Amino acid sequence: MNSSGKRPGDSAVTMTELVLPNDANPLGNILGGKVMHLMDIAGAIAASRHCNRPVVTVYVDGISFQEPIRVGEVVVLEATVTWTGNTSMEVMIKVYGEDLTSGTRRHTNTAYFTFVALDDEGKPTRVPPLIVESDEEIRQFKEATIRREERLKRRARAKLG
Ligand SMILES: CC(C)(COP(=O)(O)OP(=O)(O)OC[C@H]1O[C@@H](n2cnc3c(N)ncnc32)[C@H](O)[C@@H]1OP(=O)(O)O)[C@@H](O)C(=O)NCCC(=O)NCCS
Repeated sequence: MNSSGKRPGDSAVTMTELVLPNDANPLGNILGGKVMHLMDIAGAIAASRHCNRPVVTVYVDGISFQEPIRVGEVVVLEATVTWTGNTSMEVMIKVYGEDLTSGTRRHTNTAYFTFVALDDEGKPTRVPPLIVESDEEIRQFKEATIRREERLKRRARAKLG
C-alpha cells in the first residue's frame, strides 16, 4: 500500500465519449445503462489511481437521470475521490452532456460510488488517507461521512432481512 496521503486532485479523472447510435434508445438518447457503465469506469480509475490497487464497486448511491444526452453529443464524466476509509473509497461522479455545435455543456446528473481496494489475494486492503484542504473538499468529506453511515445502516438492515 501507498501509506502517504493523497489529494483529490492527484487521482481526479475526466473522461469524454461521443454518443453513437449504438448507445442510444429509439428516441436518440443515450441509454441509462451506458451512462452507468461509463460512470463505473471513470470512478474505478479515480479510486485505483488513489490507492494504486485494483478496485471493485461495492455500492452505488441512487442515480437519477435529469436530462437526456443525445446521439452526436459528448458525455463528459468527472470523477473525484471524496472520502476514504480503511479499505473503501467514495468517488463523486458528475456527468455532463456537451453539444459540440453550440459549445455548451450541461450538468445531467451526479452519483456517488463506493469502491474497495483489493490485495493480491482479492481481500480488502488499506488505502492511503485522503488529504482534504479546500472548503469544498472538506464539505464533500463531511457529507460523505454521513452518506457512509447511511450505507452501513442499509447494509446491516439487508443482512438482517
Ligand atoms: C468488496 C468486497 C471484497 C468486500 O468484502 P467484505 O467482506 O464486505 O469486506 P468488509 O466487510 O471488510 O468491507 C470492506 C470495506 O467495504 C465497505 N463496504 C462493504 N459493503 C459496503 C456497502 N454495502 N456500502 C458501503 N461500504 C461497504 C466496508 O465498510 C469496508 O470499508 P472500510 O474498510 O473503509 O471500513 C466484497 O463485498 C465483494 O467482493 N463484493 C463484490 C464486488 C464486485 O464484484 N463488484 C462488481 C460488481 S458485482
